[in-house]
Amino acid sequence: MPSEGRRGAFIVIEGLDRSGKSTQAAALVSRLEETGVSAKLMKFPDRTTPIGRMIDAYLRSESDIDDHAIHLLFSANRWELASNIERTLASGTSIVCDRYAFSGVAFSASKGLPFEWCRSPDVSLPAPDLTLFLDISPEKAKERGGYGEERYEKEEMQRRVREIFAAIATEANEKESWKWTTVDAGMDLESVSKSIWREVESLLSADHGPIQRLWT
Ligand code: TMP
Ligand code: MG
Repeated sequence: MPSEGRRGAFIVIEGLDRSGKSTQAAALVSRLEETGVSAKLMKFPDRTTPIGRMIDAYLRSESDIDDHAIHLLFSANRWELASNIERTLASGTSIVCDRYAFSGVAFSASKGLPFEWCRSPDVSLPAPDLTLFLDISPEKAKERGGYGEERYEKEEMQRRVREIFAAIATEANEKESWKWTTVDAGMDLESVSKSIWREVESLLSADHGPIQRLWT
């Protein structure tokens, strides 16, 4: 239950494909609600919008799109939901978001697009209060079910993506004021949930100030 006027927390879960993000994000929303914290699950890409449907066709290799153009579509997909994120947080509901702009940078930069260029379309989106990076080795991720169905689910690409996520983590912790935490996602589901909950509990007990802007 939000105490008077307190805004919701914006929690992002990031990681490689098959790192368990979706399972953990859903579990976190349930846990928050059980604790009396109003919470909503979001995910990017949101494949239900017209832009999201273009992204979906691209990921399933039903269409080919230039690397720059698909990058901008992923970003546009976040911008079309940005005001929704702000309204939700302002109303006192917390958001657990399965992937966000960090995936945008990591995946496109791993294809060779310049890092700064990749970041620019997402500058000034609502910034998360906490980013949980579910870290798993590409070898271990590959062993999990369903791997390899979509365009980017290749071990070599995931390896590069993991390196870029690591660079984003370092920078986030050094220069930026929002919090990035790495969680070992190679553990069993319960242990990962516990690690996540520890971080979220300490976030909820703190006072989050106004919503910050990404990379400003
Ligand atoms: P999903 O598996 O979480 O639905 O994400 C689909 C793929 O899209 C995944 O391989 C990561 C990639 N991706 C990007 O390349 N850019 C982005 O901005 C986002 C959100 C995801
Ligand atoms: Mg996937």
